[in-house]
Amino acid sequence: MTKKKRVYINTIGCQMNVYDSGQLMTILKAHGFQETHEVEQADLIIVNTCAIREKAVQKMASFIGRFAGLKQKKPDARMVVAGCVAQQQGKKIIERFPYVDVVVGTHAFRRLPALLEDRELRAAPVVDISMTKDIEKTDSRTLLRHHQTNISEFVTIMRGCDNFCTYCVVPYVRGPEISRSPEDILSEISVLVESGMKEVTLLGQNVNSYGMKEGLCTFPELLKKVNEIDGLERIRFVTSHPKDLSPELIESFGRLEKLCRHIHLPVQSGSDRILKRMNRRYTAGAYLDKIRRLRQTAPDMALTTDIIVGFPGETEQDFYQTLELIRQVEYESLFAFEYSDRPDAPARRFKDKVEPPEKNRRLRELFALQESITRNKQEAMVGRTVEVLVEGESKKQQKQKYPINEASTELTGRTGGNRIVNFSFGLDCNLDINNLKGQTIQVRIEKAFSNSLWGIPVGMEFTSRQNKGGYVHVA
Ligand code: SAH
Ligand code: SF4
Ligand code: F3S
Repeated sequence: MTKKKRVYINTIGCQMNVYDSGQLMTILKAHGFQETHEVEQADLIIVNTCAIREKAVQKMASFIGRFAGLKQKKPDARMVVAGCVAQQQGKKIIERFPYVDVVVGTHAFRRLPALLEDRELRAAPVVDISMTKDIEKTDSRTLLRHHQTNISEFVTIMRGCDNFCTYCVVPYVRGPEISRSPEDILSEISVLVESGMKEVTLLGQNVNSYGMKEGLCTFPELLKKVNEIDGLERIRFVTSHPKDLSPELIESFGRLEKLCRHIHLPVQSGSDRILKRMNRRYTAGAYLDKIRRLRQTAPDMALTTDIIVGFPGETEQDFYQTLELIRQVEYESLFAFEYSDRPDAPARRFKDKVEPPEKNRRLRELFALQESITRNKQEAMVGRTVEVLVEGESKKQQKQKYPINEASTELTGRTGGNRIVNFSFGLDCNLDINNLKGQTIQVRIEKAFSNSLWGIPVGMEFTSRQNKGGYVHVA
């Protein structure tokens, strides 16, 4: 028997890329490859790339660059560049990195096994960045035979974007919006649930326009169908565009018991002038109104957002309005980025660019504000009892050498509001910890940190080993 070829995938970018990398891995496994987490051992190295900001493109370049010498040492090793930068740059990647074997785009990546064969036949690099109007049907069962299912998984429900925000590269590298059929999505989720998934995050750049073009069901209708899947416990989704956040979707949070009370609603800026230049098609007032209605429906709703600082033309006054909006909403947490020129996006040609040191100052000021909000919110959780879906060993535990059950063990999970909760058990706790994975348990919160909470499972308090580990309490 010939030895299986080992494949290593490095994923840069958003959840879409994480999902696509998972699909790619299962396709390759179905073609006889096996996964490795050691890049040095790989016969096939894939980098799934992101084009959203210049930094992400640099990350790709430094990863590919590191393997310049690899071909000399290991002439049979193959390197593939996939994803959004591959789609954007095509054969330019080969011109810059001649030792790359295959460049495959965001629509074509499912053909990778054939492209690798083609590469051998031609003994030359292969580029496939063709885009299709149809969305592929997934044979969930075949695919999932090779899939390692986690407690929480992503499922893409649509791809592409028709919004054309002026700063954004996504519509160019992912193509127009197109939705998968509800049957296809439900069948994939059901198969994942059968193999152990408890929480699904539905993915799309703008889930609220799900199904519209194709005349399929609406997004709230899809959520209702997903909610009916037996054995599934939690539903999340990203991302909903504020302009399309419909009353029906807001009502879903009150109606569907499995839908987590958390919404990621990227605002980008608190200034109407900047929002207009960004082509976001809502005002700060309209956004705040939707937040108010969400909180009326679900008072415990956790809110997160994305913000861009230093968009061309952003004045101190505009930036101040963004800070004001953050103060008003009080997000649980947020992602914020310095504006980055993208080759295809029109904002590249806008005048009045904000200088890099100024962008950086604004970013730091914004993070300082959010940190104080997050800290207050995290500390307010101490003493409360929360429901946690147990996902596995905590990060700290994974770094420790001893395996589960051999000492005081720390597990991790998340609340419905997406807060990370770590919790410990002592040796004297008579529990099969492995069985806890995938269960929803009650945890009393004892300590708060900036990115996580720490607590003790209710009714399972242990006595001999209190956690004294190296935590830094948020002061
Ligand atoms: N579809 C999602 C966003 C996907 S991109 C939405 O519309 O909300 C994720 C985030 O990256 C965006 O929300 C934005 O905050 C940021 N981003 C996108 N393009 C950017 C750019 N050119 N410079 C800096 N940040 C950018
Ligand atoms: Fe980009 Fe705007 Fe589409 Fe989001 S909605 S992916 S920010 S163009
Ligand atoms: Fe990046 Fe592509 Fe996602 S550009 S953010 S990986 S859609």
